[in-house]
Amino acid sequence: MSLSTVKFGVIGCGLMGREFASVSMRWLHLNIQLPRPVIIAACDLSDGNLEWFKKVSDTKYFYHDYQELLANAEIEAVYCAVPHHLHAKVYSDIICSGKHLIGEKPFGMDLKAYEEIEAASIENPEVFVRCASEFPFYPAVQQMVRWYREGLFGRIIEAHFSIKHSSDMDVNKPINWKRTLSANGEYGCMGDLGIHTQHLPFHLGIYPEAVSSFLVNIIKERPDREGNLVPCETFDNAILTCRGRNSSNDLFPLIFEMKRMAPGCTNSVEYEIYGLNMSARFSTDDPNAISYTQSVGLEQAWSRLVIGQKPLFPVITGSIFEFGFSDSLLQMFAAFISELKHLPCEFGCFTMEEAKRSHQLLTAALLSHENHCTIELSDIS
Ligand SMILES: NC(=O)c1ccc[n+]([C@@H]2O[C@H](COP(=O)([O-])OP(=O)(O)OC[C@H]3O[C@@H](n4cnc5c(N)ncnc54)[C@H](O)[C@@H]3O)[C@@H](O)[C@H]2O)c1
Repeated sequence: MSLSTVKFGVIGCGLMGREFASVSMRWLHLNIQLPRPVIIAACDLSDGNLEWFKKVSDTKYFYHDYQELLANAEIEAVYCAVPHHLHAKVYSDIICSGKHLIGEKPFGMDLKAYEEIEAASIENPEVFVRCASEFPFYPAVQQMVRWYREGLFGRIIEAHFSIKHSSDMDVNKPINWKRTLSANGEYGCMGDLGIHTQHLPFHLGIYPEAVSSFLVNIIKERPDREGNLVPCETFDNAILTCRGRNSSNDLFPLIFEMKRMAPGCTNSVEYEIYGLNMSARFSTDDPNAISYTQSVGLEQAWSRLVIGQKPLFPVITGSIFEFGFSDSLLQMFAAFISELKHLPCEFGCFTMEEAKRSHQLLTAALLSHENHCTIELSDIS
């Protein structure tokens, strides 16, 4: 094994597979010595997507069958970004092949699928496994993390974690696999978007204990590629109102929102923590800054602190310049490589244990919706 690189295979060369390819090619952007992920192999069913990977100068093996990629002994780790119904089988096969895995969310289409992956991981404890989730790596969010870990918020009053899209406001937008029960699963928008709302609180030790959900399928039919209207069976929007608790034993309302139909939002990720001593909020609509309260006598004033480019893993970009989505992916993969290589990592990727909690929450949210009641997460096994 080379010390300066980690040889990767990519399974699923669509939207996210390409983002990782871009990250691997701009590794020199990091201003630290960290082994570079070198994508030597790509696998996809689509010839067009494999063709795109020919632009990646490191990639020399191209496969249609992921089992052939897993049989390639040169490959040390895999990034897998395939539709949700394939996670259980493909992720389990990757782990059983002995290759380290960074797999995309929701890490199994449902709790049962997650448990298949967990079983493979328990049988192969030497394999390092993490779930992809990039938004907490924005420097402004990491400032929130530091304030929280220093205890500056005091007793927590309330916390909100949201992700809001609006492209589905176009009712004529053609259906894709993320809007079908067969490939996306029953969670609907919660499967696709949920972990983006959970990574930060779970890493801070803020957990839901019970959930009351409101899930809605607003647009029940969409055109297919030929223009024929077909069923669009998945939930578009979800609001989960939870009884939250943190490691200081504060009890508070903890709210998760996952929306595909949020007017005016392209990809608004919002994190808000309200405490007795301090509150703070972040939005990707204002990605460079964090807003927080300062006490003015008995009143509180909202202040806006511009953070700039001061990420966890130092980069060549000057600290006055803006940080964005592709920068957050670079930081996430840097965190994965650091943890894999047992190097310092202040804030790591989403773990298997956290993915299990995520599935327990989303399973409870489905039950809450079906039965019109609050569900205790301790009842979900
Ligand atoms: N982290 C993020 O911000 C983010 C954003 C979007 C999607 N995702 C996640 O990434 C995953 C993929 O989503 P996407 O948007 O990239 O989807 P996509 O449809 O763009 O890409 C999926 C790819 O998988 C390929 N594929 C399907 N079956 C395969 C098989 N058996 N073997 C090899 N390749 C196969 C498809 O041909 C396609 O190219 C999902 O889990 C999704 O939730 C994450």
